Amino acid sequence: MDGNGRWATRRGLPRVAGHHEGVKSARSIVRAASALGLRYLTLYAFSTENWSRPADEVSMLMSLLERSVNAELPELMARNARLRVLGRTHGLPAGVRRGVEHVVHETRNNTGLNVLMAFNYGARDELIDAFRSLARQIVAGELKPEDISEKKISEALYTADIPDPDLLIRTSGEMRISNFLLWQIAYTELWVTPTLWPDFRPADLYRAVAEFQGRTRRFGKV
Ligand code: FPP
Repeated sequence: MDGNGRWATRRGLPRVAGHHEGVKSARSIVRAASALGLRYLTLYAFSTENWSRPADEVSMLMSLLERSVNAELPELMARNARLRVLGRTHGLPAGVRRGVEHVVHETRNNTGLNVLMAFNYGARDELIDAFRSLARQIVAGELKPEDISEKKISEALYTADIPDPDLLIRTSGEMRISNFLLWQIAYTELWVTPTLWPDFRPADLYRAVAEFQGRTRRFGKV
């Protein structure tokens, strides 16, 4: 969800105003994804690298994300949507973690759209966590090194029971992956738009999905 800061700066507003506007985009995209019948929508909300931003922006983002998620609980329930978190949740401030975990718990039995919020997420950290968990299984005698497979690695990731993404949308024109789901996006289709996240509307999502539907996916085959 890139471009909140630029959106605000271009209007002579503080960066936090862009994040507030970004929450409105997130809300409308969750609604649109649910209405489209998508099964999974992953939103990259806070990366492990984002901790190095100015302290006031970090603490504002933490409380904004926690408040936004809690404010959405009634609508998530009404839409039968489930919230899950990808990332090192134990590294979040205790109050933020409890707030988000409450919504995760309340929505756990919902069977519609899965909203996956990457929060304190970094793909390399995810891989480190996965390799540590596999190493522990080997030390415990539960796994042999030669039995490590793509499936075993996928099962050790935060996304263990979640299919790999079909489509990755990157806003604000950035032509890079920025440590997002590195293992899972091996064959994901990429769609980059210059639109800044606060200006991203359901029509942009529909355009991305329509273009995706017109692509031929070969998965390395002919
Ligand atoms: C990137 O903009 C956005 C973030 C660091 C995350 C914040 C996202 C939101 C508040 C959207 C709401 C999400 C949910 C799930 C409620 P940036 O600050 O990197 O902008 P810039 O690239 O223009 O500086």
